[in-house]
Order: sequence, then structure tokens, then C-alpha cells
Amino acid sequence: MRKLSIFITALILYSFSCGTAKDAAKRSSSINPYQYVGSKKVVCENGAVVSAHPLASKVGVEILKQGGNAVDAAIATQLALAVVYPNAGNLGGGGFLVARLNDGQLLALDYREMAPASASRDMYLDKDGNPMLNNSQNGHLSSGVPGTVAGLFASYKYAKLPFEKLIQPAIDLAEKGFTISESEARSFNALQKDLKKCNSVMPVFVKDHWKAGDTLVQKELANTLKRIKAKGQSGFYEGETAQLIVEEMKRGNGIITLNDLKNYQAKSRVPLTFDYKGYKVVSMPMPSSGGLLLNQMMKMVEDRNIDQMGFLTAQSIQLMTEVERRAYADRARYMGDADFYKVPVATLTSDAYLKERMKSYEPTKATPSSTIQPGAISGYESEETTHLSVLDKDGNAVAVTTTLNNSYGSRTVVGGAGFFLNDEMDDFSIKPGTPNMYGAVGGEANAIQPGKRMLSSMAPTIVLKDNKPFLVVGTPGGTTIPTSVFQTIIDIIEFNMNTEDAVWKPKFHHQWLPDEIAMEKGIPDEVQNALRKMGYKLSLRGGIGRTEVIKVLTNKKIEAVADNRGDDSAEGY
Ligand code: GLY
Repeated sequence: MRKLSIFITALILYSFSCGTAKDAAKRSSSINPYQYVGSKKVVCENGAVVSAHPLASKVGVEILKQGGNAVDAAIATQLALAVVYPNAGNLGGGGFLVARLNDGQLLALDYREMAPASASRDMYLDKDGNPMLNNSQNGHLSSGVPGTVAGLFASYKYAKLPFEKLIQPAIDLAEKGFTISESEARSFNALQKDLKKCNSVMPVFVKDHWKAGDTLVQKELANTLKRIKAKGQSGFYEGETAQLIVEEMKRGNGIITLNDLKNYQAKSRVPLTFDYKGYKVVSMPMPSSGGLLLNQMMKMVEDRNIDQMGFLTAQSIQLMTEVERRAYADRARYMGDADFYKVPVATLTSDAYLKERMKSYEPTKATPSSTIQPGAISGYESEETTHLSVLDKDGNAVAVTTTLNNSYGSRTVVGGAGFFLNDEMDDFSIKPGTPNMYGAVGGEANAIQPGKRMLSSMAPTIVLKDNKPFLVVGTPGGTTIPTSVFQTIIDIIEFNMNTEDAVWKPKFHHQWLPDEIAMEKGIPDEVQNALRKMGYKLSLRGGIGRTEVIKVLTNKKIEAVADNRGDDSAEGY
């Protein structure tokens, strides 16, 4: 077994309010938050958790060891991520959970943020009708009503352990602190200017200089978590926490009210499922485009012998690009919160429609996006989200993707409550027909309405083989999420690649507009040249996604692989 490890802290550098490392190790079973090691791959028998942070994955596995099921572990891991991974783990954002329980039940829980009651279609346009992107992407007005805490309690119906047990590790991590890694220190340092701009009550993240090994203590966040522990969902949506959110809103012209918070509900959705060559794929329906795009893309390659084209050949990249282009054109036009807009899911996924869609496909030539739908945009949707995959010894499989939208969301921390608020309102089409800052183009289907949920790309997904969990998969990455999940599944099922190659090797992305293939480094020059000859514009970019996969092996062992593009960690026992 190949095992890569990262030492997060070789030296114990913490100095304030924390006791010694020995005390810490005693305090929290086998988890020492001041000195810990992450693992990129485990093969185990009883259960595994893969997430963006070693401490969060370890918390999840501890819960499994204590008799919790995969849902318990997913709840505890999300709560831990809200503390140790503040750029995307959250209490002030939202997310989706897809699960396949061992009794065969399929779940899709929607805890996406919601537009406040006083939100309106043109709220981010100036008097001349021009988009005011700063308001939809930063600060108080960019926040939708948070859904995460409601989602945790909606999930808790399927859990086994007392909620207090699931939240305690997060409280400990917030109260006593944990040491941060080099990339976290870099990320906090880069955030300072925005923090000062978007907050009038300065949060604990404000500091002259962060370095690897510093301890991050979050007392106010610990107190918020304690209120949730004591009062459940209303410990967040009512009482002191709600009051603190509304006071924060008033400090920055935000519009979330006590009523918006009290009225927020997570929703149980019918999972989006489809068959692919004997596998059953279970993913997230609206208000995420993730599952529907995955369905369209997989069905458009199903009968095209992609296995014979090979991984990262010009031929296979060309085919996958063309199906991505066609699916994303549909996203822009037809997808939005189905409680507000009739999304033609049955048509968009029908064999006849997809066949028609591929009529213009030519195996050696780029189809210009202008011939599929007109438009011109630049840039990409935000890519700061986080995914966790969990599988327990009884075969319960859980995939969760959550987000604040941008890294650290609106960059506004609720004064006295210690958590970042999302800037998810920017995932709406703030001016139908015009692209938002990140390049996601939208229309009427995703226009702002009070109480509506903004369209997402998140795609927590479970693939079943012989009606049993085979893969648990997902990733952050904004609009690149569905294409990364698509490629990971195709790599494993069609190209017979091992899990780490499927996760770690380069990915590419086409989203209709801009009409270009975005590529990670590492795709061979001759493949790039062949694609250029076919008429494709290529743009090299940084990492695409941070995919976390659990795979059930033929010997029934559980293999968990964390992405090597970040501090992500796979833990199991
Ligand atoms: N904010 C990223 C997404 O929901 O797709």
C-alpha cells in the first residue's frame, strides 16, 4: 500500500491557553490537535472517512469506532470542518447530503442557503441596470440564509449516537485550538485585507502574520457550538446566535432577519438516479445542477466505446469535452431551484434528447459553443467548497458537499458568534442572461426570488454495483465539480484506473462558455497539440477540485483516497 503522509506540525509551537500536547492527546482519545499526521490513502475493513482536513477525518473515524454509523460520522466531520477548515467548512453556509443506507434507502438532503424574504431579482443591479458584483460577492448583502445547521439536524434522524457526542470534538477543537498548516497560514495571511474590509468587529483570524504551527483558538465559535449542543437547531436559528447574526447584518446593510432564520428548513429531496452499464449512480437533484449534469454527461458517452480511447488521450478528452459543453449549455438555460422553476429533468435526461444533442458531435473536430447557444463570458465560478465521503462497516454510504461559496464566503464573521457567513447569493444569476463574476451564465431559471435556493454545482455521489455501495465520491470546485466527478467515475469504470490515479492525475474542464478547455498541468504536449489541431482553445490552470473517493474492493475491503491537491486526508480503521 502506498501511503503518503504529511507532518502538519513537527514542533509544538502553541503557547496560549492550551496546556501541553500531552494533555491534549489525553483529552481527545487518539487525536492530538497539536501534532497530527494526514494520510492520502488507507485500505481498511471497518469504515473510512475522507475529508479536506486530517483532524476532521480523524474525528469522523473516532465516531465510527464509538459505534456511530456513517451519518453520525458525516455530522461530526462537518462540525469539525466548521472549526478546522474555516474557508469552506461552515456553520454559516449550506450543503447537500446524498446517502445510501444499508437497508437500501436512498437520501438526498438539501440544506442549500436560501434568498432572504426581502431579496429581489434586481437587488444587485445599480439604477442603470449594471451588476454590482461587490455586493453579491463580499460582505453582508452577499449572504443567503444559512442551511448547514438545519442540514445537520435533518441528517441526525438517521444517526445513532447522542448529538452531544457528535458535536463535542468540534467544541474541543474550537475551544482549545489546533495547530495550523503552512497552507492554512498562507491562506489566513492572504485574507487579512478582506477581513478588515468586511468586518467591524474584528474576528480571531485577524493577525499580523500567521505561520505554520500557530494555534488557532476560536472561543466565540466554541460558544456557538455549545448553544447548538444545548438547544439543537434553535440554538442557531433562534435565540442568541440568531440575534448575533441579525446584529451583524445591521452593521453591514445585510438583509437576513430573525424570521428568515426561524423559517429556514432543510428539505428532503428525491435523489437523482440513473443506470450506467449495470451501475446505479445516485446523486443530488435540484437545486444542484451536479447530479443532472453528471447524468447527461455519462449518458452521452455510454454508447461510444470510451474505454478503447484510453485515459487522457486526445480522443477521450475530445469526447468528454463535447459532452461537457452540451450539458453546461443546458445548465445555463434550464437549471434552477425546481420549487420555483419547472426544470425539464425528464427531457434533459431522456435518451432521445441526448441522442439529438450529440447529432452535431464530430469525433475529430471542436463544435464551437456559438453553434450550440450564443454568449460570451470570462472566468470561473468560485471553487471553494468542501467534500467528505464516509462508509461504515454496515455498508451505509454518505457523500456530503458543503460550501460558503468563495473561500471564507462573504469574508464577514458574525461578531460574537465566530463563524463566516456565505456569499452564496452570487450563485444566483444576479442579472438573468449576464454572467456572474466567475463565468457561470444563467437566466430566468436561476433568477433571484425570496425564499428561492441558488443553483449549485455540487455533486455528492454514490455509485452502486450489484445494488451495494461501490464508490462514494465528490469534490469542491464550483462549476468544475460535475466534470471532476464525471471524469473520476469514468476513469475507474471505463479506464480501469486505480483510485489514486483517478483522483490525483490531471483533470480538465469545459463549461460551454468560455469556449475553452481548462486543463491542469501534466497533460502530455502531444495530446494538447492534437486538441489544438482539432480546433480547441486550451488554457492551463491550477488544481481542479479536491476529489475524495471511497471504493469498495472486490475482497470487500474499503479503500479511501484523499486528493493530493491539498491537506486532505483519508482515515479508516
Ligand atoms: N458555491 C458553489 C456551488 O454551490 O456550486
